[in-house]
Amino acid sequence: MDNDIAKTLYSQNDIHEACVRLGEQLTTDYADKQPLVISVLSGAVFFTTDVVREMDVYADMDFIDVSSYNGGLESSGNIDLVTDLSTDVKGRDILIIEDIVDTGRTLKYIIELLYKRNAKSVKVCALMDKPTGRKIEVKADYVGFVVPDEFVVGYGLDYKGLYRNLPYVGVLKPEIYE
Ligand code: XMP
Repeated sequence: MDNDIAKTLYSQNDIHEACVRLGEQLTTDYADKQPLVISVLSGAVFFTTDVVREMDVYADMDFIDVSSYNGGLESSGNIDLVTDLSTDVKGRDILIIEDIVDTGRTLKYIIELLYKRNAKSVKVCALMDKPTGRKIEVKADYVGFVVPDEFVVGYGLDYKGLYRNLPYVGVLKPEIYE
């Protein structure tokens, strides 16, 4: 897989340091709450498991699967709820864990869904934020890295279902997707 990567953006060590930093902030901010952590499948699973282990707070966890990219490079614009939560979010303080906020469509969809179900508060922790990709105004409250306008893979992020298991985040060589 390494041969398909043009450059590494964030090494395993960079990611670990980001998780520690975010975990400290979240530990402080959620000290007097018992948040429900919602991980967005499948991309955010790697980041979720690393960042929650840096949070010294009582928290339960759930997962949601929404799809807009269908494995390619561009957001389709339509969000499908593929797998719903199993937890009642009414009255809960929610922390969404996302891999990357790009167009913002996925996050907006999930935040609205949670408030429609009467969540008490909804905050977002994203490993990466790509502000140049934004089509909808939405903001992550906790961000690991602000990324350049490139399609990134690794550490949970895929291209056509592959590269999720790269332990770092990188940019694919153009010949892979051209
Ligand atoms: P949106 O555009 O809705 O994106 O903010 C959210 C989801 O889309 C995927 N995504 C990417 N996946 N490289 C990827 O491998 C990227 O650069 C990228 N941009 C968006 C991702 O699953 C994210 O949760």
